[in-house]
Amino acid sequence: MFTKRVKALLSSAKADVIYITSPENLRYFSGFTGVEGALILSPKEQLLLTDSRYLLQAAEEAPDFAIVDVAKTKPIDCLSSYHPKTIAFEESYVSAEAYKKLCEALPDCAWQGIDKEILLQRAVKDEEELACTRKAAKLADEAFSEVLPMIKEGAAEKDIALALEWSMRKGGAEAASFSIICASGVRSALPHGVATDKKLEKGDFVTMDFGCFYKGYASDMTRTVVVGKASDRQKKIYETVLLAQETALSVLRPGLLCKEADAAARDVIASAGYGDCFGHSLGHGTGLLIHEQPTLSPRSEGFLTPGMLVTVEPGIYIENFGGVRIEDLVYITEQGYENLTHTDKRLLEL
Ligand code: GLY
Ligand code: MN
Repeated sequence: MFTKRVKALLSSAKADVIYITSPENLRYFSGFTGVEGALILSPKEQLLLTDSRYLLQAAEEAPDFAIVDVAKTKPIDCLSSYHPKTIAFEESYVSAEAYKKLCEALPDCAWQGIDKEILLQRAVKDEEELACTRKAAKLADEAFSEVLPMIKEGAAEKDIALALEWSMRKGGAEAASFSIICASGVRSALPHGVATDKKLEKGDFVTMDFGCFYKGYASDMTRTVVVGKASDRQKKIYETVLLAQETALSVLRPGLLCKEADAAARDVIASAGYGDCFGHSLGHGTGLLIHEQPTLSPRSEGFLTPGMLVTVEPGIYIENFGGVRIEDLVYITEQGYENLTHTDKRLLEL
């Protein structure tokens, strides 16, 4: 019996056989959470090939798949048994070396990329994926309020990052969804300043960007606070980023071009005179990876559809001064959007 996701992929792929090897797509299409294996999908059958470390796990996690032991049948022999003229594969995951070997083993076969079809499919989430993401976002919200009392003069960035991760994992997360960013003072001008031994000082902006994986699904949020009293300049920067973020949120709806969402935030920042200080995209999709489709950037071609998860994360970064980013993770609905991040966004002076 084909799973719904495999059926959808088979109908969008124009190849005799589909060959999947990335851990996230193994998981997405079969439920198997092991990190090594291969799916071979044809209109006739769906196979999961793996080795002795994972055979029992594969049978349990992927009950709709026929499990094949690679010690008995190598993926390449299995592929060639179909005598395919075309095989679809993940062109951005397979290494040049592995691709060369595949071509040598099946020289008369045409290999075609299938990343675009898979990414489009994965961009629209089902109820179960939404539930896992909702929980991952809740764990991040809870971690922030739990760690808030720690954010004061003298605390090390690394300790704050560790406390955020500890809280999320205690709540049931498998892992942080990326290296936690905790950047204070002038370091907050680094959009991706991962936590260091630096201690927080009075007057520092502190940007914390973090999230976790829950049942495979990522969350992502950012809040920026000030240690002690904020200066007028800090307040102006913070209020500009907040207005940009809320303006972008207010336009989100199905059918909106991704670049229009980006422009809504970018225009606010540019009008306040900080146009050169917002270099990255407004946001990105999340899912089994922290960065998925769609991308909300000035160059994005796509548009929003119900079921997408996107971050909305404008920022202003000023070298030798500091920076602010505010990020929520939202779900696009038929009517507009639902915000999965609930932490307050008013400027906190701690
Ligand atoms: N929150 C990290 C990132 O979006 O890259
Ligand atoms: Mn993000």
